Amino acid sequence: MDRINIVILADETEYRVAVKNKIKDGSLAIVGYSDFDENSRLKIEGYFPDVVVCAVNSSTIDDQLFDFIKSLQFQSSGCAVVLMTDNVSVRLVNEAAKVGIRQVYSFDMDPEDFCKSIVEVNQLEQQLLGQLKIEKRVRSKVLGFYGVKGGAGTSSVATNVAVTLANKGKKVLLLDFNLQFGNDSYFLNMEPKDTIVELARDPEGISIEKVNTTAEMHSTGLTVLCAPKSPEFAEYVTPEHIQKIIENVRPYFEYILIDLGANFADQTLTAIENCDEIHLITNLDILCLRGTKCAMNVLDSLRVADKVQLVVNKLTASLLKVKDFENLIERHAYATITSDRRICTNALNSGLTFVTDQPRSAVAKDLVKYVDKIIEEKERV
Ligand SMILES: Nc1ncnc2c1ncn2[C@@H]1O[C@H](COP(=O)(O)OP(=O)(O)OP(=O)(O)O)[C@@H](O)[C@H]1O
Ligand SMILES: [Mg+2]
Repeated sequence: MDRINIVILADETEYRVAVKNKIKDGSLAIVGYSDFDENSRLKIEGYFPDVVVCAVNSSTIDDQLFDFIKSLQFQSSGCAVVLMTDNVSVRLVNEAAKVGIRQVYSFDMDPEDFCKSIVEVNQLEQQLLGQLKIEKRVRSKVLGFYGVKGGAGTSSVATNVAVTLANKGKKVLLLDFNLQFGNDSYFLNMEPKDTIVELARDPEGISIEKVNTTAEMHSTGLTVLCAPKSPEFAEYVTPEHIQKIIENVRPYFEYILIDLGANFADQTLTAIENCDEIHLITNLDILCLRGTKCAMNVLDSLRVADKVQLVVNKLTASLLKVKDFENLIERHAYATITSDRRICTNALNSGLTFVTDQPRSAVAKDLVKYVDKIIEEKERV
C-alpha cells in the first residue's frame, strides 16, 4: 500500500508536536508543516499531501478560520482535510462539515485510534475521487523526445518508453506534439476520435477534464493525446495551447512524455521550455551529428541545454562512435538502443510496440534499461 502523506497546518509549535506525536503508524508520513498564511495553499500543494491536519486551539476557531480552510479547496485535488482541537462540540463538528472538513478530533485522542481514522479518511477520499472521476495530484516529470533528424526513431522511442512505464504501473500521459506529422497513434494501434485539435478548439478552454475526455486510453492504461489527423490542422494549435495543456496535466500524471518531432516550430519551443528533461534522439551518422550540433545550439540559446540527455538509437557498428556525440554535447550518453530493423518494423506493422512484441530482443532490453534509469532518477528526487 502507498504511504499516506500528511501535512500539519498549525501556527503553534505545541500543536504541531501534539499531532506529530500521534503519528505512530508506518504507513503514515509527515511530509511538511505550514502556518495559516496567504502562502499556505501553494506551500501545502508543493508537498502533494493526502491528508492535511489542521491543529488549532478551540478559542481561535471562527468563521474566518473556516473560510480560510474552505479557500484551500484541497478536496478538489484528492486531499482530505481534518481538524484537531481541544474542545470538540456537536456544533463545531457541524460547522466543520459545512466547509468540507472530513473529521474533527480531540487532542487527547488515542494515537492508535487517530492513525486508524486517518487511514479510513484517506480511503473514503480516494473512493470519492474515483466516483467524481477526479485524479489525485502527483509529482510529475515532463520528458520531451526530440529527433535531431526526421526518422531517427523519436516516435518509436517515445511510444515504447510510454508503454513500458504504463506496464510498470506508472500513470503516464503521452502527448503527440509533432503537430504536422505525428503518428504515435499508429505505433500504438489506436484510432482516435478526437485529437489535440478538438481540444484546442473547444470554446470552454483547456482543463484537465477536457484533456481526459479528448485523450484516448491505450490497452496498457497509458493515456494518449493524439496529433492532428492531417497536417493542415496543425495551425489550430498555438504555443499558448501547448503551454496550457502541459500546465493543466502536470499535477495528474507521474510521467508526461512529449513527442516533439524534429522541428523547432514555435509550438515545439514552448513545449521544450516546459519540459523537465529533453531527450535528444540521435543515430550514429553524419546527418545526425550535424543535427545534434544544430539542436544543441538552439537549446543553448533557449538556456535549456542543461536539461538535455543524449539517447543514441539504432546503435550499430559505425565509423562515427557514441564518443563523438558525447564530446559534441559534453555529456555521457544517457542510453543507447541497439538497431534492429526487422523487429521494429514487424512490431509497427502488427500495431504493437517492440517491447510488447519482442520483449526478449536486445532492442527491447535496451529500452527497458533506459526506462529503469528514468524511473530511478525520478524516484531518487
Ligand atoms: N532501434 C531501432 N532499430 C531499427 N529501426 C528502428 C529503431 N528505432 C526506430 N526504427 C525504425 O525507424 C523508422 C522511423 O522511426 P520513427 O517513426 O519512430 O522515427 P521518427 O524520428 O519519429 O520519425 P519522424 O521524424 O517521421 O517523426 C521506423 O521504421 C522504425 O521502425
Ligand atoms: Mg515521429
